[in-house]
Amino acid sequence: MTLKLIARPDFASVIDEVREQESAHARAHQLIPGGCHTYAKGDDQFPADAPRFIDRGKGCHVWDMEGRRYIEYGMGLRSVTLGHAYEPVIEAAYAQMRRGLNFNRPSSLEGAAAESLLSVIPRAHQVKFAKDGSTVLTAAVTLARACTGRLKIAICGDHPFFSYNDWFMVTTGIPGGIPEARRQETLTFRYNDLASAEKLFEENPGEIACVILEAARTEEPRDGFLHRLRELAHRHGALFILDEMITGLRWDIGGAQAVYDIEPDLSAFGKALGNGLAVSALTGKREFMDRGGLNHGLERVFLLSTTHGAELSALAAMMKVIDIYKSEDVIGTLYRQGERLRTGIRRTIAELGLQGFFTLDGRPCSILYATRDAERRPSQQFRTLFLQQLLRRGILAPSFIVSYSHSDTDIDRTIDAVSDSLFVYRKALDQGVEKYLLGRPVKPVYRRFN
Ligand SMILES: Cc1ncc(COP(=O)(O)O)c(C=O)c1O
Repeated sequence: MTLKLIARPDFASVIDEVREQESAHARAHQLIPGGCHTYAKGDDQFPADAPRFIDRGKGCHVWDMEGRRYIEYGMGLRSVTLGHAYEPVIEAAYAQMRRGLNFNRPSSLEGAAAESLLSVIPRAHQVKFAKDGSTVLTAAVTLARACTGRLKIAICGDHPFFSYNDWFMVTTGIPGGIPEARRQETLTFRYNDLASAEKLFEENPGEIACVILEAARTEEPRDGFLHRLRELAHRHGALFILDEMITGLRWDIGGAQAVYDIEPDLSAFGKALGNGLAVSALTGKREFMDRGGLNHGLERVFLLSTTHGAELSALAAMMKVIDIYKSEDVIGTLYRQGERLRTGIRRTIAELGLQGFFTLDGRPCSILYATRDAERRPSQQFRTLFLQQLLRRGILAPSFIVSYSHSDTDIDRTIDAVSDSLFVYRKALDQGVEKYLLGRPVKPVYRRFN
């Protein structure tokens, strides 16, 4: 039988495509709570007309299911710092896959990977690997509790996320599934407000096991805040723990502890380590980390023992990533491209009189933006409008966090797209956002009800 190919009008195939996407999307929601595996990727975080799915990525570009190309920022929730499908890292991971991924005794690669990571984090003596940031930060909490014999922890209340585990989630106002008792155990202090941390130690004498924070986020530490907080914690017998999930391999190859020359007792890395392959690390001083070891007479701590913790393709990828950072100016490029982008966007902000309405925060290597309405209140509606306008112009940017693969051309195209989008933002400020917004607005991740 001969098959006759009949050319269909374009619009029909487009409609078919849309129908297919819609049913795949509905199916994903039937099978996966929230439709995907990370809330930050969820429907409620993007405009209604955002691409439902991403089909593939290369460098700083991603393609949706209809083949439309976007310049992406943030790149896999900051896990992909070199670029999507980055050949040297893929090759390293694949070479290891061919040799086996997991055995009943450790691979010698585990030691080599530890040496590789510790070579760029010289303030730490030991490391244990896992697959995600939440797990290693939770291990840090367990270790601090075990080493101090204390239950309470003090975390920075201005930093948005440390872990999906109870000790952090109690602070978010989403109580589902978290035992009431946990609520008394996590205390919060303010960033750059040493007095707020001092108060916690005064009100809970001998009870706080550790302080946990990102060394900095959008605000730089003032008046020696980090060093004074560390000293405060030590004076009260608590551990000083840094979350380097975002800052590691981005602010500096050695993270924020290198930038601020501060020595944490424990620190946690993840995200960029494997350029998208899953690897995270708890690093720290021997005196604490060793409690998870086999060569001491103290009570043992069951520290990070997971089947996949030392899965070898991710460790091989991490070693390759670190080699690339050592031999190429990755960090310099992140700062340079971020600065190019920031300068261009700031020019538009000034031209359109959007100061105080649309703002950029953070270091050039890690730029976040904030949207405000005509009354200068934080606005999800304006965030949605801006995302929507960017998407139309081929930019997928929940933040402006650059990668090593963002070229000058990508950055300049983005600046043009942002200028056009902010022009619409300006009109929406003047005439009302509803007139320009298509569909429902995005919502904050932390909310008690849908
Ligand atoms: C600062 C910070 N800490 C910890 C985490 C948790 O890492 P993971 O998502 O790998 O569990 C994140 C994730 O977004 C983060 O941004």
